[in-house]
Amino acid sequence: MKHLMSPLDLSVEELDRLLDLANDIEAHPSRYAHSCEGKKLATLFYEPSTRTRLSFEAAMLNLGGSVLGFSSADSSSAAKGESVSDTIRVISCYADICAMRHPKEGAPLVASMKSSIPIINAGDGGHQHPTQTLTDLLTIRSLKGRLDNFTIGLCGDLKFGRTVHSLIQALIRYPNIRFVLISPEELRLPDNIRDGVLKKNHQDFHEEVRLEDALPQLDLLYMTRVQRERFFNEEDYIRMKDFYILDKEKMKLAKEDMLVLHPLPRVNEISVEVDDDPRAVYFKQAQYGVYVRMALILTLLEVEGC
Ligand code: NCD
Repeated sequence: MKHLMSPLDLSVEELDRLLDLANDIEAHPSRYAHSCEGKKLATLFYEPSTRTRLSFEAAMLNLGGSVLGFSSADSSSAAKGESVSDTIRVISCYADICAMRHPKEGAPLVASMKSSIPIINAGDGGHQHPTQTLTDLLTIRSLKGRLDNFTIGLCGDLKFGRTVHSLIQALIRYPNIRFVLISPEELRLPDNIRDGVLKKNHQDFHEEVRLEDALPQLDLLYMTRVQRERFFNEEDYIRMKDFYILDKEKMKLAKEDMLVLHPLPRVNEISVEVDDDPRAVYFKQAQYGVYVRMALILTLLEVEGC
C-alpha cells in the first residue's frame, strides 16, 4: 500500500501520469463521477485549513465517494490525549483513505506506520505539504506547458513555509530550473533545504531581499504569507508581515507572461488590485487543487475512471 508523505514518494514518471490523469479529469469530469462510489475519505485536521480540507472533500464527493472527519484537534479525541497512532488504527476501520494535517512534523508519517489505509500528508508543521506541490506542478504544467526551463522566484516566508520546501524538492528533478529565493534575512530558506537540497544537487539558485530586484527575470513568482502560527513572538511577526506587498506598480516590472502563484490564504502580500491581472493565477491554482487531489485519491485507491 502506498502513502504520500513527500512529493519525492512519486517518481517523475508517476508524477507525470498523475498530472495527466488530473488533466483528463478536468476535461471529462463526468467520466469519474462514480469512480469512488462506496468509498470513504477521512479528513483528520489537527490544524486550521480551508482549501486543503475542503478541496479533499470536494475531490472525494466529485468521485462519488463520501467523507468524514474533524477540522480541529479540539473536536477530536486528541483533546483527551489520544495518540495519532491510536486514532489512525481506529480510523482505518471506518474509512478507505485518509488525509491528515498536523502541527507536528512527521505526525502523518507516524500515522502511516500504524495504518491499514493510505495516508496523505496534508501538511505537517513547517515540514512538507506534498498535495500543495502537486497542485502547483499541475498549475504550472497546465498554464506554461512544461515543468522545465524556467526561472522561479519564491518569495516571503521561506523559513516556515512548508509549501516552498516541498515545491523545491519536487522541482529540482526537472532540467534547467533557476531558483531566486526572495526573503528577509530572518526568513531565509532553512539550511537543510538550501544546502541539503539545492547546493547538494548543484542547482542554480541565488538569494535576494528586494522583490523589485528579482521580478524582471522571473517566469514564475510563487508568493507566500508570513506563517504567523510558527513565530515564537508576535513582535517579530508584526515586523515581518508586510515586508512584501505585490501591487500593480511592481507587476509593471514583471514579464508579460510571468505567472503569479500563491498557495493561499493570502494576507497582505498580494494586493487585491493584482487579482484582475491575467498573470495572477492563484484562484485557478485552487481549482487545479481539486483535480489533482481527485487524481491522487484514484491512484492511491487503485481505482480506474469509467
Ligand atoms: C498553505 C499551508 O497550509 O501550508 N495553505 C494551503 O494549504 N493552501 C499555505 C499557508 O498556510 O500559508
